[in-house]
Amino acid sequence: MNSYSRSLAGVCLALTTLLSAAVAPARAQDYPTRSITMIVPFAAGGPTDVIARIVTAHMAQTLGQSIIIENVVGAGGTTATARASRAANDGYTLITGHMGTHAASVPLYPNLAYHPEKNFEPVGLLAGTPILILARKDFAPKDLKDFVTYVKANAEKVNAAHAGIGSVSNVSCQLLHSILGVQPISVPFNGTGPAMNALVAGQVDYMCDQIVNAVPQINAGTIKAYAVATPQRNPSLPNVPTTAEAGLPAFQAQAWNAIFAPKGTPAPIIAKLNAAAAKALDDENVRKRLLELGSVIPQPADRTPEALATLVKNEITKWTAVLKPAG
Ligand code: MLT
Repeated sequence: MNSYSRSLAGVCLALTTLLSAAVAPARAQDYPTRSITMIVPFAAGGPTDVIARIVTAHMAQTLGQSIIIENVVGAGGTTATARASRAANDGYTLITGHMGTHAASVPLYPNLAYHPEKNFEPVGLLAGTPILILARKDFAPKDLKDFVTYVKANAEKVNAAHAGIGSVSNVSCQLLHSILGVQPISVPFNGTGPAMNALVAGQVDYMCDQIVNAVPQINAGTIKAYAVATPQRNPSLPNVPTTAEAGLPAFQAQAWNAIFAPKGTPAPIIAKLNAAAAKALDDENVRKRLLELGSVIPQPADRTPEALATLVKNEITKWTAVLKPAG
């Protein structure tokens, strides 16, 4: 390339950079001008999918564009999350992540293809999701004390379903197993939607799952719930004791689901998405559906991008301390 063409290329590059910088605010101002993809890192019908669909249905009305859910499965949600981290940072590809994909996976995957803090912009927290210890209807133990005795005595025979290494269902039961000192058979699924189907069918013994996936089945009597791993009982399941009441106070576990965008997504776009999510969480119908499923709806102060960034940082520290020793 001669000097003339080199200088022409330099001028073109400078002009392109200037032009893109000039149109960026206009793009953000007009955003969104087309449909948005919301990646859900697990199979349809599970807790992450259910929460994402409830909230994004309302967000779409606020934003005036459809939000298309794309279920991308595998590796405990990390396949989808890695893909989302590489998406264009234009606000048109988002992900509903959670305590597994954006915290517990960090200590569990030494070569994780993304980092929750370096590769994502936090948009906003959607829901807290208490964890329950659930079992197939005809599992022998009649209460949590019996469950502990039975699992300790039969660890090589019983099996626990989950949504893949690093998923909420996996790490919650890893915590339970480290407290009990057992390592039962592990049965992975592409999400706890399919795992719940297997539990209802009696094909697996038990599971640690987010409450939003369990309430309908518990109320229908198709599975049993030993306890909820939070200090207080959940209003959607008033008859399910806490782990403390049932004799296992050491097992405390609550997950959360939140929206993230690829790193570098412009701040005005993040602000628009955050406002739409917050508006959804204040909508009467959205609140009713989330609360009926046992969700904990975040207070306004906990819905900001900054609050989510702090939550992610704290949760990475917490689960690294919990899971590293558990191996
Ligand atoms: C999990 O981490 O266990 C997921 O939430 C399961 C799911 O949403 O399907």
